[in-house]
Amino acid sequence: MTFKRNTVTAALPYANGPVHIGHLAGCYIPADIYVRYLRSKGDDVVFVCGSDEHGVPITIKAKKEGITPQQVVDKYHKMMGDSFKEFGISFDVYSRTSSKIHHETASDFFRNLYDKGVFTEQVTEQYYDEEAKQFLADRYIIGTCPKCANENAYGDQCEKCGTSLSPTELINPRSTLSGAKPVLRQTKNWFLPLDKLSPKIKAYIESHPDWKANVYGQCKSWLDSGDGLQPRAMTRDLDWGVPVPVDGADGKVLYVWFDAPIGYISATKELFANTAEPNKWELYWKDKESRLIHFIGKDNIVFHCIIFPAMLMEQGEFILPDNVPANEFLNLEGDKISTSRNWAVWLHEYLIDFKGKEDVLRYTLSANMPETKDNDFTWKDFQTKNNSELADIYGNFINRVLVLTNKNYNGIVPEASEYTKGDLLILEEMTRFPDKIADSLDKFRFREAQSEMMNLARLGNKYLADQEPWKLIKTDEKRVRTIMNIAVQISANLAIVCEPFLPFTSAKLFKMLNLSPLKWSHAKNSNNISAGHKINENPEILFTKIEDEQVIAQVNKLEESKN
Ligand code: MF3
Ligand code: ZN
Repeated sequence: MTFKRNTVTAALPYANGPVHIGHLAGCYIPADIYVRYLRSKGDDVVFVCGSDEHGVPITIKAKKEGITPQQVVDKYHKMMGDSFKEFGISFDVYSRTSSKIHHETASDFFRNLYDKGVFTEQVTEQYYDEEAKQFLADRYIIGTCPKCANENAYGDQCEKCGTSLSPTELINPRSTLSGAKPVLRQTKNWFLPLDKLSPKIKAYIESHPDWKANVYGQCKSWLDSGDGLQPRAMTRDLDWGVPVPVDGADGKVLYVWFDAPIGYISATKELFANTAEPNKWELYWKDKESRLIHFIGKDNIVFHCIIFPAMLMEQGEFILPDNVPANEFLNLEGDKISTSRNWAVWLHEYLIDFKGKEDVLRYTLSANMPETKDNDFTWKDFQTKNNSELADIYGNFINRVLVLTNKNYNGIVPEASEYTKGDLLILEEMTRFPDKIADSLDKFRFREAQSEMMNLARLGNKYLADQEPWKLIKTDEKRVRTIMNIAVQISANLAIVCEPFLPFTSAKLFKMLNLSPLKWSHAKNSNNISAGHKINENPEILFTKIEDEQVIAQVNKLEESKN
């Protein structure tokens, strides 16, 4: 199947905290690399994201801070959007689920399924707080863990022993809202009958054996497990969210995992809303020749591979996800990243300590991307990647090219005359990089793709080290012209193929070469810069070294802030 256009989404982050490196490595960097690559190839793509502003954690955060949920999401929506921008995550739109357009879209979607009779109604018993006069979400109930006797286990999980629980399993349950003992009360909710839809979902999953092994394997194990898929409530007794648009649903909102993925659709609508073609969003969601790709972390797999596709299938007008390249988790200094323990590297803090080194973090996170298994970020490795790879190889090569061209030829690219056999091999090898990198990116192998990109910098760096034009200039100036011409061509091609990974560096390099940015296919050429072209003077150092003290300071800061 060949596609005409791409709809690429990155998981909508919860607006209850800032963005950390785990988010970037798991989802936003791979998505951004992929989208930048597609754009460079000239493919039609929309890249959508936004803040996930509903759900219980947000209401809990609001209670804790004594502010409204809206104030919580306003604060973090702004903060997250800013961080993404600063790290070059190039969304076409960054929307939010508290917006009017989203409430309407999600509400209509629910109503559509409701009118088709897709949902089943079920009355269940839920804990109710008679003092606070509301039903209690699992996280609003604490009690004694039946497994380890921890007195502060949550209704969905005991954080001490890790057991997942249901609220009725807790001994001596109490409400976190009022401290009262909750009582069971009957309530009606609408369920998506995943059990009944299971054969369709199974056929859909099994038509995608090409998915990443971690994703496909997870899906298969849910589908094939003993009980199979169970009906799941799509409405909740809560007061923060999209109101359930049917009679007799007062005090109920859509389940956050029902409304959030619809946020991808609302965001696309928003993107085109004030253009000459406001209906163009439909092309990206309904046309069979559009390819829908969801970038997510592993904890989101069930929602993107099973529940959302089931919703889309039942709705009937929409395309289904063609691929869901989920990543595993990133650890930090050997330990799980944790917001509550403050074991994280926050992007807004990184920007204070390492302003101008946004690409270095992108590079390190891509190199350690948890593609097939959990992986680790350490500050020591960050330093090594910066100093020994970006500075010593990439930066060193570019600096030599620019400095020598300026010094020997007043910045005018010299003409190549006679190529040696070795030169021809280098030029040949250079033009093979875009296809090699593309081959890895097409398979969502970002680490491999990035290391191929670095191999082009390595090729250039080694070429200059072997040829030593700085020595040869005294004895064979003519030969130096050819060498420098080749080195300049490698630089131009490097600027092209590094763009998805190192967008800021790519832009700087094009500027220093005095070239307008070139697209992917140009990197298959061996003569992107003509002899006689004038490059810019005074090249800047692309990557300055990171000192040991800086690394030690970061590790100490982590240890100290741990709580
Ligand atoms: N907010 C969820 C999380 O951070 C992700 C939502 S993805 C969407 O895990 F599909 F629901 F939008
Ligand atoms: Zn326990």
